[in-house]
Amino acid sequence: MVSIEELTSFCKRRGIIFPSSEIYGGLAGFFDYGPIGIEMINNIRNEWWKAIVHSNLDIVGINGAIITHPKVWEASGHVDEFIDFLVECKKCKEKFRADHLIEEKLKIKTEGLKEKELNELIKKNKLKCPKCKGELGDVHEFNLMFKTKVGPGDGETTYLRPETAQLIYLNFKNVVDTSRQKIPFGIAQIGKAFRNEISPRNFLFRMREFEQMEMQYFVKKEDASKFFEKWQKARFEWYLSLGINKKNLRVREHVKKELAHYAKKAVDIEYKFDFGWKEIEGIHNRGDWDLSQHEKFSKKDLKYFDEETKKKFIPWIIETSAGLDRVFLTFLVDAYHEEKVKGEKRIVLKIHPKIAAYKAAIFPLVNKDGLPEKAREVYNLVKGCFLCFYDEKGSIGRRYRRMDEIGTPFCITIDHQTLEDNTVTVRNRDTMEQKRVKIDELLNELYKSLYS
Ligand code: GAP
Repeated sequence: MVSIEELTSFCKRRGIIFPSSEIYGGLAGFFDYGPIGIEMINNIRNEWWKAIVHSNLDIVGINGAIITHPKVWEASGHVDEFIDFLVECKKCKEKFRADHLIEEKLKIKTEGLKEKELNELIKKNKLKCPKCKGELGDVHEFNLMFKTKVGPGDGETTYLRPETAQLIYLNFKNVVDTSRQKIPFGIAQIGKAFRNEISPRNFLFRMREFEQMEMQYFVKKEDASKFFEKWQKARFEWYLSLGINKKNLRVREHVKKELAHYAKKAVDIEYKFDFGWKEIEGIHNRGDWDLSQHEKFSKKDLKYFDEETKKKFIPWIIETSAGLDRVFLTFLVDAYHEEKVKGEKRIVLKIHPKIAAYKAAIFPLVNKDGLPEKAREVYNLVKGCFLCFYDEKGSIGRRYRRMDEIGTPFCITIDHQTLEDNTVTVRNRDTMEQKRVKIDELLNELYKSLYS
């Protein structure tokens, strides 16, 4: 399996992801998407939206604001509860997440441990700063929300949203009143979230600015378990349907002391990275926590009126919550392969065609003899249906390799025979086999190979 360090430099080399503000030395936890990366991440975003919103009559989408009224985060519990435990080196001033440091050094689990217990573990085991071996200070709570000011002058202090979910709860009543949805139904959203992580690391895994793809499904209390099972299964299968290797994917249930403040039950869909099994998506039974809290803090009635029973109640919520960037990282790790071909290393991204940036690349075999003109004709034919790459310079072998590295499923080559019989060669990324296809049948052929 590719290491995160190798993947990070590969992504930069191939225009997939760049460190943000790189010319100023970068900023930890922030990344920019390059020309290839933006196409891929857009494809993942669209696949999720299609699977969740467009394929289900009982789910609608919204797009909420990033900055909200500060009371939202008091009500949600984030002001009090959204904390990690920080420990600082007294000598070099480097800051660490206390639980991560203990887990790495002592190889023990720390889920659910609080400030005092973490402090005791550090002191008892005489843990030192991993960077300079200096003495560590005391463990402190650290709230992960980014503060900002709204308005001129001193303004009003509020926060950048640390999860997209709250915007869905804030709009629950608006959606009920304006759509024809009846419980059970869901509201989905994709958007930015911000967390001031103490130690962002592992590339896109732990970032400070990232995107979430979240869906909140509103149900009657007695149906919560049934829909929890349903969404857990559906979400697991979504990854498999887009080609993730099943042996690298598992579901893990949270033990009680690990549960977030809002959760009655939670499972993580985990992927086996080179740094261990890690969460890529959470499915949570949030009970009636969120709507009850917002009702309490806003003093607005957020109950749902059931026309059948004529009863009002606060619905329970089943949440599916995935990090788009983390999911992208998962697809990249899973797809990255190195092989030996005729004694040379070949890097190939065996990524699902639906996620690949370009679906095909179009090349004239040589840059003369009328082949580029014919190749542009083919490009004009295909570009209306699939995003294609076009390149007429350099050795054909190199052009193929470049496409293999960014995961382009097919390379279409226009050669001298094309001018005689109107056929092209179509090369398969994974098998490297080539077959001749009539230009008239090319679109059909590509469509079948890409999506069947
Ligand atoms: N609304 C529930 C919620 O936000 P979470 O487990 O804190 O739950 C959900 O986050 C998902 O968001 C995670 O499974 C992960 O994919 C992604 N995520 C969380 N923190 C992240 C970070 N710092 N960088 C990248 N992705 C992150």
